[in-house]
Amino acid sequence: FGLPRTLNEPMRNYEPKSSDRAGLQAAVDSMLASAPFDVPLIINGQAVQSGKTAQQLNPSNHSQALCRYQEADANLTRKAIDGALAAKKDWEAMPFADRAAIFLKAADLIAGKYRFPLMAATMLGQGKNVWQAEIDAAAETCDFLRFGVKFVDELYKVQPSEHAKGMYNRMEYRALEGFIFAISPFNFTAIAANLVGVPTLVGNVAVWKPSPMAIYSNYLIYKIFEEAGMPPGVIQFVPGPAEEIATAAIEHKFFAGLHFTGSTHVFRHLWKQIASNMDKYTGYPRIVGETGGKNFHLVHPSADVDTAVHQAVRGAFEYQGQKCSALSRLYVPQSLWSKPGGFKEKLLASLQSISQGPVEDFKHFMGPVIAKHSFDKIISLIEAAKKDGGKIIAGGTGDDSKGFYVKPTVIETTDPRSVTMINEIFGPVVTIYAYPDNEFEETCHLIDTTTEYALTGSIFAQDRSAVVKATNLLRNSSGMFYINGKCTGAVVGQQPFGGARASGTNDKAGSMQVFLRFVSARTISESF
Ligand code: SER
Repeated sequence: FGLPRTLNEPMRNYEPKSSDRAGLQAAVDSMLASAPFDVPLIINGQAVQSGKTAQQLNPSNHSQALCRYQEADANLTRKAIDGALAAKKDWEAMPFADRAAIFLKAADLIAGKYRFPLMAATMLGQGKNVWQAEIDAAAETCDFLRFGVKFVDELYKVQPSEHAKGMYNRMEYRALEGFIFAISPFNFTAIAANLVGVPTLVGNVAVWKPSPMAIYSNYLIYKIFEEAGMPPGVIQFVPGPAEEIATAAIEHKFFAGLHFTGSTHVFRHLWKQIASNMDKYTGYPRIVGETGGKNFHLVHPSADVDTAVHQAVRGAFEYQGQKCSALSRLYVPQSLWSKPGGFKEKLLASLQSISQGPVEDFKHFMGPVIAKHSFDKIISLIEAAKKDGGKIIAGGTGDDSKGFYVKPTVIETTDPRSVTMINEIFGPVVTIYAYPDNEFEETCHLIDTTTEYALTGSIFAQDRSAVVKATNLLRNSSGMFYINGKCTGAVVGQQPFGGARASGTNDKAGSMQVFLRFVSARTISESF
């Protein structure tokens, strides 16, 4: 198998009056006019009506349902597992080049024919503005599929390095025995595609429980895989009640692995559930998860302030702070923070120009947060911060009368361990602690010990010795460390993504590493 060089999908900018803008606008308009769509479960390639329905709302306008979908239960989940196991025989025996062709075709369908519908579903269902939808649904989804093929092609070439006389030693990368259970989050259509894409590309079958808040875009991903030639049963699409579906999957004797992105709390719960079913399994299940974050920017007195402010605004407020990588705690030296024309003034000035509104207007930097429960949680954490001595210097309020809008919020605190410096918020809220200029090393220590998470973080400094110091002192504080750039926006193939501690198993999505978790190698040694 040989591959041409893999490139990242070029991003488009959707300028007003461009043909891309017109095409996407038409997709959004027609989706709005035809919603709600009916979305079935898919088991063995067949649409299944369970009779139990739920809705996915448009968070920009919650009186409108984007889709009505069927919910699975324990019995249907077991049926999906049986079907997946039956489909596995042919799928794992299929030559890699043929599996790869399906993935490369799916990527081309997303880059071309389905780019606008997939983006429109991500905009209207998940509240992403056009540029965030382009980054996610179009570019990153294609990248995961295409680079995945390249990574697996490389992985399969990893073979014993020593030649032995009179022998032929080799490694075969088998799929795991059983099925993979994938649970995907609402915030990235690309992550959902990758959570089922990674295990299946190496010959596994996947039972997929998508987020109730991303059903429509995720259903389109399923249909694109199907159009690209994915055989029935290899991916089973089973939305529905998380606890019931997860229990049916995890209690199954052929449960072989979990591929998860979501909250730390749920991941820990699932891990314990897996442990308590251990004696049933054929092998040791692979557990791969991306979970929470409490991501930081550390600004050094030598930093370029304009860059640090601009990157903070983007890191904290793009997609309303709903990236697991989003900036949430910001450490700025006192001298830069409060001086006239300094960090604080520039930050507050740049917030003035942020517009917020429905994503279908095509003009706002910020849209809504995903749902009522997120809105309530974010507002209650802002209230808790006030009680904990935090000063709201921007935003601090929300309006959920039409959509779930929370204003971009900046909280200033003098207590670096106050409530919003510690807890994950998953919304457009950043808390800033101005540290004494002569306490740079102490601040690194503070960052390292303040939270249980270790996903992403950044240092802003012109002084190379400060960069070196922070890079060393913050060695275990994040799985992604950025120098003079924001802590969000990892690109497949460029910045393999993952965090440690309570942020995940750090198996690096967007790299070869994660594929290793879903294969079981066999060494074959043949004597002549
Ligand atoms: N990969 C995304 C980012 O880096 C988050 O999941 O922002």
